[in-house]
Amino acid sequence: MKKITFCVVVILLAVLVIGIHDYMPSLSTIPVYQSISNTQSTNYAEKTPVHHSVSNIQSVKAPVHHSVSNIQPTTSGKKAPVHQPMSNLQPTIGTLAISHFKDVPDMTLTVRMSSNVTSLLNFFYCTMLRSLALYWSSKLGPLGLILDKESQDDHKFAENLQQYQEHLGMNISIHYEPLPKNKRVLTVVKGRSHGYNRQLYSSFIMDKFISTPIVAWTDTDAKFTTPVTRDNILTGNKLRVKGMNTFQNNWIQGWDKLGIKMIGKPMPSDFMTFFPVYIWRDTITNCRNHILNYLNVSTIEEAYIQVGSQDVGIMSSVNIIMTYAYYFEKERYDWHIDIGNVDLQKYNKLRLIPGHELTSPDLTPDFHVTLHDKYYKDDKNIVNRQAYCAAVNNTVLNMEQNIKQMCEPFKTNEMWLLFEFCNTIKQEHLTTWCKNKIKHCSSMIKEHYDKTRQLVNKGVYNLDLKKVKVVEEAAKFHNVKCQPFL
Ligand SMILES: *[C@@H]1O[C@H](CO)[C@@H](O)[C@H](O)[C@H]1NC(C)=O
Ligand SMILES: *[C@@H]1O[C@H](CO)[C@@H](O)[C@H](O)[C@H]1NC(C)=O
Ligand SMILES: *[C@@H]1O[C@H](CO)[C@@H](O)[C@H](O)[C@H]1NC(C)=O
Ligand SMILES: *[C@@H]1O[C@H](CO)[C@@H](O)[C@H](O)[C@H]1NC(C)=O
Repeated sequence: MKKITFCVVVILLAVLVIGIHDYMPSLSTIPVYQSISNTQSTNYAEKTPVHHSVSNIQSVKAPVHHSVSNIQPTTSGKKAPVHQPMSNLQPTIGTLAISHFKDVPDMTLTVRMSSNVTSLLNFFYCTMLRSLALYWSSKLGPLGLILDKESQDDHKFAENLQQYQEHLGMNISIHYEPLPKNKRVLTVVKGRSHGYNRQLYSSFIMDKFISTPIVAWTDTDAKFTTPVTRDNILTGNKLRVKGMNTFQNNWIQGWDKLGIKMIGKPMPSDFMTFFPVYIWRDTITNCRNHILNYLNVSTIEEAYIQVGSQDVGIMSSVNIIMTYAYYFEKERYDWHIDIGNVDLQKYNKLRLIPGHELTSPDLTPDFHVTLHDKYYKDDKNIVNRQAYCAAVNNTVLNMEQNIKQMCEPFKTNEMWLLFEFCNTIKQEHLTTWCKNKIKHCSSMIKEHYDKTRQLVNKGVYNLDLKKVKVVEEAAKFHNVKCQPFL
């Protein structure tokens, strides 16, 4: 019975999502839900128009000045150089910006993208890029896109986007991935599109395109909900990782089975429950070498085909890489695993290999800077408003009257949203970590906003809604029309 349901779902989804490149972990069981179709939402931006001038947007359709080097496939991807002085959008980055992120290694906010899938374009512009423009500091590193080398559309997509770098105050580096040599890679996981297979496979070679020491990996449907601080990324010199016990969902068992085939170790937790996933670039290299060794094959294509063709489940590349990191490089990362309301000893016995048990320091709460929009129902468009209001609250920024008015209802709301990731499937920490520690979670929220307020006051984040408009302008190239942001 289960099998039949699974097949029906797979066929339905194959029809629904043909060509979708995006990494969609829960597709096998979850109806595709797009929270951006919030047609009934109150449209603040239109009722009380935001008075930021957007007149300068038209002037950016200047020739693209990027040098050829950064649009060639390369194993040492470079930051896309911006050849003109930064626009007036980020004039105030002062010493605090530099000192706040000074000891943070360079990173690339990395997205595997394909421009020929409409739903991906929608998420990319409306969800990811609009929120990124507000809440990701260019001081952390560029947005890096890995695209299909042979796709003319992807080249056009990149050219269009790079024209807006200055007005977004953010560098965008483009990396072109050639088609895999062995075309079986594109079809090996049955019921999955070429694009989907390619994306899964691609995850194991990101280090060949991204050259920064940290790959901050995210999906096109991740929505930033707060400015990102140093502490959201690093504890000392360890990268923060979040995980969650979601093993009650049947697709997780498929991921686990395939992961075991690929690296020989069970998932200690589900790592597809937060974005961005911060990965040391060489962890990806090491993981790939481990896979080649473990499977006794000479290329990652062979490995992907060998494991993918076994039909024991779907694959989760994030989980394979982070599971590798857990077993082989645990001390390079700072683990925050929510095992739910389960006894640690029992959990260890059930899930972990002796000698690799989770310990209580691994279970320390942490919160999110994004949510997974595809699986977060927000018909009334509350998330963006609440997030923005929390970010501007008590800062030196001069808010427009309409923003003040919009924020009035949120005045007494705490940002519990930061402890949620999805709500159409249950992925939140309000009933686990925060259940008996409301005070503790609450003080984490407060502490975070004390920090973001400083960053805003010093101009590290200017929360300038003009940048949202710039993204909307860029999206027009693909006839993507976003719902109002606020
Ligand atoms: C973009 O990259 C160039 C070259 O690496 C750098 O000089 C510039 O500061 C970067 N701009 C931003 C906004 O980070
Ligand atoms: C998207 O582009 C890829 C590569 O160019 C191509 O193989 C695929 O068929 C395209 N998909 C759609 C839906 O056009
Ligand atoms: C690994 O593969 C090579 C070549 O296919 C083969 O000669 C060798 O015996 C294999 N080693 C093991 C341990 O399976
Ligand atoms: C705004 O900031 C003040 C002062 O830090 C705080 O008391 C209040 O809870 C904050 N409001 C929101 C909605 O975060």
